[in-house]
Amino acid sequence: MDKVNDRYLRHLFDGDLIFNVYEKNIINLSVGAPGPDLLQNCEEMLLKATQHRMEEEKKEGMYYLFQYGITAGLWECRDELSKFLSRRYGDSVARENLILSYGATHGLHLLLTSILAPNGIIFVEEVTYMIALRVFEQFPFMKIVVVPMKNDIVDLNALDKIICESKKKYGPFHTNNDSKIFWSAFYTIPTYHNPTGSVLPPECCKKLVEIARNYSMVVICDDVYNLLHYPSGPPPHRLFHYDNKEDVNYQGGNVISNGSLSKILSPAIRLGWIECPPRVANILRTSGVMSSGGGANHYVSGVIASLLHLNIQDKYLDLLIEIYTKRLATVCDVLKRLLPKCCSFYEPSGGYFIWIHLPPACDASDFIKWCQETHKVAAIPGSRFSQEGKANNNFRISIAFHQIDILKKATEILCIALDDYIKNHMKI
Ligand SMILES: Cc1ncc(COP(=O)(O)O)c(C=O)c1O
Repeated sequence: MDKVNDRYLRHLFDGDLIFNVYEKNIINLSVGAPGPDLLQNCEEMLLKATQHRMEEEKKEGMYYLFQYGITAGLWECRDELSKFLSRRYGDSVARENLILSYGATHGLHLLLTSILAPNGIIFVEEVTYMIALRVFEQFPFMKIVVVPMKNDIVDLNALDKIICESKKKYGPFHTNNDSKIFWSAFYTIPTYHNPTGSVLPPECCKKLVEIARNYSMVVICDDVYNLLHYPSGPPPHRLFHYDNKEDVNYQGGNVISNGSLSKILSPAIRLGWIECPPRVANILRTSGVMSSGGGANHYVSGVIASLLHLNIQDKYLDLLIEIYTKRLATVCDVLKRLLPKCCSFYEPSGGYFIWIHLPPACDASDFIKWCQETHKVAAIPGSRFSQEGKANNNFRISIAFHQIDILKKATEILCIALDDYIKNHMKI
């Protein structure tokens, strides 16, 4: 362990057999990130936005954009972002409720360090974003408690029961009035879930908010896919919308919406936002990390303020929606035609992912390994998304990276291989 292997790598997925989406010999359907055909658009968009922003800086002559920024994040960026989000969500988003972050991953980490008891509990769904689980591992004094799912969404009756039991079992918790105001958090992806693609229905959203209020728990929503909504009209309301401050039993805010530009612009931009109630915003605004660093990604926030102001992000989101709508429809058409009858999937209406259910006896890890070796197509086995290594008879397909013809070919190969595997190669 006293040597660092610093070999030449180009991107996050480089050198990784499961995730290397750039590998020419394999069609890899694993990764939730855009491919070069989409990323090439960033060059022109960011040039225009940067030029606009530099002209603004010159006009003012103070060059504050190159100074330490304010802890909540550049005012103009939050102002433009609140207008953009209000427009695209079809729900109002207040500038003062936004704290800029370096992306949803940083937002999650910042929340865990700022508002959760150091010996608190993080409730997670049976399957969830696998790297969030790794973020949680960095807080070894916090407990991770798994909540079962039913039909690909969280089982709220089970959640209610588990919260009650866990509070008794693991308390007391080191909360205080100034910062660690929550003893527990439920981490979830209510809209276009990763990996299941599901959306939490409105009646469940209402119930979840009630549960959070009853137990003084915070719900941290990873809202990175909400705007990738493919039917016309506004996307499903984010959970934050249901925690209405006009409600008689409003508790000061128990929901946080953790958003990002990674899926609607570029993962490398590293800019996101935490939309939170005032009691949380005030804690984050006085955080030492945000104060010492002068907010998150201040320079980039200036460029993004211009990008939003010039409506470039709006137009690009429309383009992404058009492209992803076609990709998703193509993959789902193939699945409807060719997926073996003993398997199933639910067709999502947004986001990146399709979650395939295999028969209980079929081991997805084994199938994917075999499929990768013999048919040169890969996806991610379900157990990767499970804290307890379950979901072994599921796998996830992503439509994010490859173009439509490659996706079609890969899905056809995958379905035919799966049929062959179930009939002839399954280990029983
Ligand atoms: C649910 C979820 N949250 C967060 C992220 C990462 O977001 P960011 O790039 O904004 O840190 C991903 C990326 O795959 C994701 O799927």
